[in-house]
Amino acid sequence: MGKSITFQRIALEDLEYLRNLRNANREYFFDSDEITVSKQKKWFKKIQNNSFIKFYIIIKNGQKVGTISCQDMGKMWELGNVLIDEPYRKKGIFREVVDILHKVSPKPLFVEVRAENKEAIGVYLKLGFEEIGAVTINDERRLALCKK
Ligand SMILES: CC(C)(COP(=O)(O)OP(=O)(O)OC[C@H]1O[C@@H](n2cnc3c(N)ncnc32)[C@H](O)[C@@H]1OP(=O)(O)O)[C@@H](O)C(=O)NCCC(=O)NCCS
Repeated sequence: MGKSITFQRIALEDLEYLRNLRNANREYFFDSDEITVSKQKKWFKKIQNNSFIKFYIIIKNGQKVGTISCQDMGKMWELGNVLIDEPYRKKGIFREVVDILHKVSPKPLFVEVRAENKEAIGVYLKLGFEEIGAVTINDERRLALCKK
């Protein structure tokens, strides 16, 4: 099963796919503003020049099914932009993604989640993450979870 998932580094031609996916799932992101074409282009330039962050499209059986980013934070790898497109959820894809990253990562995996996103928190706990703290930023409570 593991072999059916691949990670594709994002390219200019993926920006519209990413923008639409992100705008359809704004409620899960800390910055939930609508992403415009120009905002997306600026963001892409910024992350292209950041060698610490790698942004991927998750491919399952040749199909784009979601996104994830990995940022080297020194002691940990921080996961971001964790998103499986709605029709592909609850099929074990994120479990496979975490298994792969956990195997290849030399460091614990770290993630911050909106405290109100109980479903995602439940998924992380099922996948072996542990709650390590909480922080409130801009009146919003975030939980920090880590998988060693
Ligand atoms: C959270 C998310 C990434 C999980 O992806 P997924 O591919 O659907 O997860 P999986 O199918 O691999 O499920 C992993 C485990 O969690 C369970 N699970 C998945 N979704 C669940 C839900 N909504 N409620 C309860 N359990 C759930 C699965 O049953 C599975 O457990 P099992 O293997 O013991 O049966 C996906 O639901 C998503 O993209 N949500 C919206 C965006 C989001 O909240 N991102 C996180 C922001 S930090």
